[in-house]
Amino acid sequence: MKKLLSALLASVMVLSLVACGQKQASTDSGSAASGAKTVRVGVSIYTFDDAFMTLYRNELAKYFESKSNDQVKYEVTMQDGKNDQSEQTNQIDNFITQGYDVLILNLVQSTSAATVMDKCAAAGIPVVFINREPSESDMQSHNTGDFAGKFTYVGADARQSGRFQGELIADLPNKGDINGDGKLQYVMIEGDPENVDAQYRTQFSISQYKEKAGLDVECLDDQVGNWQRAEGQRLAANALTQYGDQIEVIFCNNDDMAMGAKVSIEAAGRKINDNIYLVGVDALAEAVDAVIAGEMTGTVLNDHVGQSHKAVDCAVDAAEGKSLDLYNWVDYVKVTPENASQYK
Ligand code: BGC
Repeated sequence: MKKLLSALLASVMVLSLVACGQKQASTDSGSAASGAKTVRVGVSIYTFDDAFMTLYRNELAKYFESKSNDQVKYEVTMQDGKNDQSEQTNQIDNFITQGYDVLILNLVQSTSAATVMDKCAAAGIPVVFINREPSESDMQSHNTGDFAGKFTYVGADARQSGRFQGELIADLPNKGDINGDGKLQYVMIEGDPENVDAQYRTQFSISQYKEKAGLDVECLDDQVGNWQRAEGQRLAANALTQYGDQIEVIFCNNDDMAMGAKVSIEAAGRKINDNIYLVGVDALAEAVDAVIAGEMTGTVLNDHVGQSHKAVDCAVDAAEGKSLDLYNWVDYVKVTPENASQYK
């Protein structure tokens, strides 16, 4: 009887040890049943309803998968910010309460970066900001104490993409001045002002054009299309109705809006690269095809592969306790009919 009791007791102890072990494995992000360490990564994208960010987030997830191995497993939770800052703030707060190891954030409002950094600094969670650059003063002012080296912005310098757009037009044999009046008459279709890319592309495309072409410009219309194709189509149609043949170029802050504008240009009976020019940014597959077919003047590669890989590499480094540079820049590339086939 005594023997039986002690045998029973021993088996209860073993069972409870196993139970403890299991409990620890599921709540402690530092270990997993397989023996591999689990790193929990929280990602929030400003909206899933964005052509460029869809390419970006798919590549991000794919590259994280390739990083998992026998030693470490990256468990990525990807959430849709639905273009609503309060929704996204909830997601971030949840990541923090649940003790995620590192966050990758594409903010709805870049002005929320300061609050986000305060919370993450207090919780000791590193952050990789992507695509929507926080203000330089917010970045600099948080780069102190324990949080220094624990956050970064990974992106492309939108001034460069704007300059490239200006050059795409300035380098045309007629410098875009179809009517030969010595001035470029243009329409600008802007992205969501929450992303500084919109402001920079609008500004630098024109300043670079003026500098390179040595001509003056006349802005016929400048509207916000929020990065969306349907808006690009609607705004271009309105501008074409109002200004007709006066329009020599339509500059779009991104390709999705340019693809919309293209539909309206064709519907208005105009011929791109003949009696009107059209440029965008991103090098979406459709836009690259259009450049090759001579149905779009040019675009600028916004390297979602380079940017997403860099963001993952930074997150991995941060999770390993390595210090991050404050900024990580990825270059844009000008896409013309001559080189477009390389970016298909
Ligand atoms: C891209 C746009 C995209 C936006 C989202 C920009 O860098 O060029 O296509 O809609 O980021 O924030």
